[in-house]
Amino acid sequence: MSDTEVSSENRGQWSSRWGFILAAAGGAVGLGNIWKFPYITGENGGGYFVLMYLVFILLIGLPIMVAEVLVGRTTQKSPAGAFRSMSKAGSPWILAGWLGVLTGFIILSYYSVVAGWALHYTWFSFTQGFTGMDADAIGSAFGTLYADTSTNVFWHLIFMLLTIGVILGGIQRGVERAARILMPVLLLMLLVLLGLAIFSDGFGRALDFVFKPDFSKVTSAGVLEALGHSFFTLSLGMGAMITYGSYLKKKEDLVAASGMITILDTVIALIACMVLFPITFSFGLEPEGGPGLVFVNLPIAFSQLAGGVFWSTLFFALLVLAALTSAISLLEVVVSTVIDEFKWSRPMATLFCGGAITLFGLPSALSGSEDSFFGNGFKDHSAFLFDGETGKNWFDTFDHLASNWLLPIGGLLIALFVSWRVSDNAREEAFKSGSRFARWYWNWLFLLRFIVPIGILSVILHKIGLI
Ligand code: PFF
Repeated sequence: MSDTEVSSENRGQWSSRWGFILAAAGGAVGLGNIWKFPYITGENGGGYFVLMYLVFILLIGLPIMVAEVLVGRTTQKSPAGAFRSMSKAGSPWILAGWLGVLTGFIILSYYSVVAGWALHYTWFSFTQGFTGMDADAIGSAFGTLYADTSTNVFWHLIFMLLTIGVILGGIQRGVERAARILMPVLLLMLLVLLGLAIFSDGFGRALDFVFKPDFSKVTSAGVLEALGHSFFTLSLGMGAMITYGSYLKKKEDLVAASGMITILDTVIALIACMVLFPITFSFGLEPEGGPGLVFVNLPIAFSQLAGGVFWSTLFFALLVLAALTSAISLLEVVVSTVIDEFKWSRPMATLFCGGAITLFGLPSALSGSEDSFFGNGFKDHSAFLFDGETGKNWFDTFDHLASNWLLPIGGLLIALFVSWRVSDNAREEAFKSGSRFARWYWNWLFLLRFIVPIGILSVILHKIGLI
């Protein structure tokens, strides 16, 4: 059977454990690491935010990653089917799987718009470059792009076409091959940029900013954001890792693989900060640059660097590659669920779901325009979500909703399901099978049963003012 006809009985499989690790890490490492993490770190005061994020990754993210991969590997199914086959007939747990599909659908719709900015910047760097532009001109170039609806729509369509194309290729041929080539290139490119940043004047200040916590800056919105981002960056809480785990052979060590993915993702996010903030400080710029941080501060540095055209093309191409491997995993969750649940063919499921997400992403592509209903106009409609502050445009509202609420809630459901609902024997056997970390079983279970739910619930309840 070819992998265009994958069914739940006879699915594609990763050719090796490293095939799985690279593909899953390729899914995890993306715009979240390079675009979002530095800018929300900048907005939330640096060190304390990074510390919260690291604590959440270790105590909440990693145990959930193991739980998701375990469910996927055990059931060899995509999220909805996985929940169904591990619970009783007619059980409502299947809704947790569908919640993940909804979340993936929403995230990809706006993710593609940011990836579109990266495509635009790659093209611009290559054809014109930032050399000769001053800081104001570069700042207003991003402002112009942000508000330019037709350019945003154009690149959004191009990026969705690329993503749909890879998924049409099937799991082995498309995703694995792409990830195997792109992941090491990506890491290498980042290390070269880090080498440049280390010798810049701002490196010492950047180290302080990123690693010295200033607890006077703590806010409940910031803690919720750190929690949400720990899910977003590791692709947790929506079944992406269930889907990836479902293509993993039963004898593979899922704990080691999950640990490796988590370490790779976290290290890359920290390197991205250590590329970005030294440059920000060296050029006397502000860390609170918002979503434009990567698209303004870096080009300002590139404009003054020898070989700037080369460096900026390299960097934005890297961002597109990282975004593409993540977008692949987002679309794969939606598509594999439709294939497994409705027995559609892969091409039909991919075209239908990819098309629907592309349409749903259009309002995000229009969100930067003041005149658009989805831009300023939408702020009145979303104010209720933001504690009576002013609301946000369509794009920011859905980003907030998906990453800060839907992912943690999805993660909570997965943790509760695996730790309380799945039978002791099945869980223990699956965790220990082929694992060098079998003796960590009870520690993992303790985290999943108590620390994860208490952690997520207390952040959420505090944010909505109940505790
Ligand atoms: N982890 C990706 C990133 O950091 O860019 C985003 C993402 C991909 C989230 C896949 C969720 C997901 F299922």
